[in-house]
Amino acid sequence: MNPPISSPEFSHFPVMMDEVINICSPDKGGTYIDCTFGGGGYSKKLLNFSKTEVIALDRDELIINISKKLYKKYPKRFSFHNLRFSEVHTIVGNKLVDTVIFDLGLSSIQLNNLERGFSFNSKASLDMSMGLSTTSAEEVVNNFSEQELRSIIKILGEEKEASRIAKNIIKTRSIKKITKVDQLVEIIKKSKKKNYKYKINPSTKTFQALRIFVNKEITELITGIINATKILKPGGKILIVSFHSIEDKIVKYFFSNFSSSQSNPSRYFPVDKPSNTFLFDKYKNRILRPSNLEIIKNPPSRSAKLRYAVRSKNKFIYPTGLLQKFKKYLDLESLYV
Ligand SMILES: C[S@@+](CC[C@H](N)C(=O)[O-])C[C@H]1O[C@@H](n2cnc3c(N)ncnc32)[C@H](O)[C@@H]1O
Repeated sequence: MNPPISSPEFSHFPVMMDEVINICSPDKGGTYIDCTFGGGGYSKKLLNFSKTEVIALDRDELIINISKKLYKKYPKRFSFHNLRFSEVHTIVGNKLVDTVIFDLGLSSIQLNNLERGFSFNSKASLDMSMGLSTTSAEEVVNNFSEQELRSIIKILGEEKEASRIAKNIIKTRSIKKITKVDQLVEIIKKSKKKNYKYKINPSTKTFQALRIFVNKEITELITGIINATKILKPGGKILIVSFHSIEDKIVKYFFSNFSSSQSNPSRYFPVDKPSNTFLFDKYKNRILRPSNLEIIKNPPSRSAKLRYAVRSKNKFIYPTGLLQKFKKYLDLESLYV
């Protein structure tokens, strides 16, 4: 098991590190992009192999200090960019890379920093930005219409009681602006049916929805995986660790439908894409999950799903079908610029 990565304030336990490293084979060297640096767990492990180069990204400027420590140790083989991963293609020029890794969502460093408003145990301002966002949860809950709030909570949080929650947000804010996390937690609690048999905290889904919306996480994911595919060498790998069903649905669709294993809807009709257009080699549609031991040691890892695909030799053709398929989410996240 891998030890947690220490930072002065908090730590993040890297999820499925052994599985990620096994798939990457860093002992052979190569250029790796760690799109979600976080506590630096993956980058650090990859740099332990002497022939690797690691380029890391993270949208959160508060973790730049962690990256500086790694840069000091590996100035020739490590670099860090405070960027959103939708822009991953902009940092390598014309170079193609061996592996791109995404470990989606929040780090424990962000979740445990109560000032940032991600945790429902916080009494801080309703911020929820991971960094480089143009809005906050406070702006969203105080300015968006009831119908927009309902759609955000229902579609991005998959919350069945979204209508009542949206109605009560509007009712409350007409009396007093909603600025703090505990105010929102109270509104959600009152809105949910009173059978407290919830396996998860009643606020979980609404908080997930607002966080995804504030950080445009679905737009980031779709754009990020497309742009990462664009900069992969033939035979290069793209690995994605996801934590909720919307993310996994997108990754699965991308890998299955843009690979040579694209399923044939009918044996009487051939697959309509010629074989030289597939972005990935045969995709086995296999999900890797954390071991029971990892889940015991690091319970938040229980919802992790790891999928990976191998870039084909074909020329990159922009997969517009991916944008069309998930247009509902993209349209919702473009309610603000
Ligand atoms: C789960 S943590 C990654 C942990 C990391 N693998 C480790 O071993 O410590 C996710 C990180 O990705 C960052 N992140 C999330 N979305 C991003 C995006 N669109 N662009 C860049 N960074 C992002 C978050 O700020 C967070 O630091």
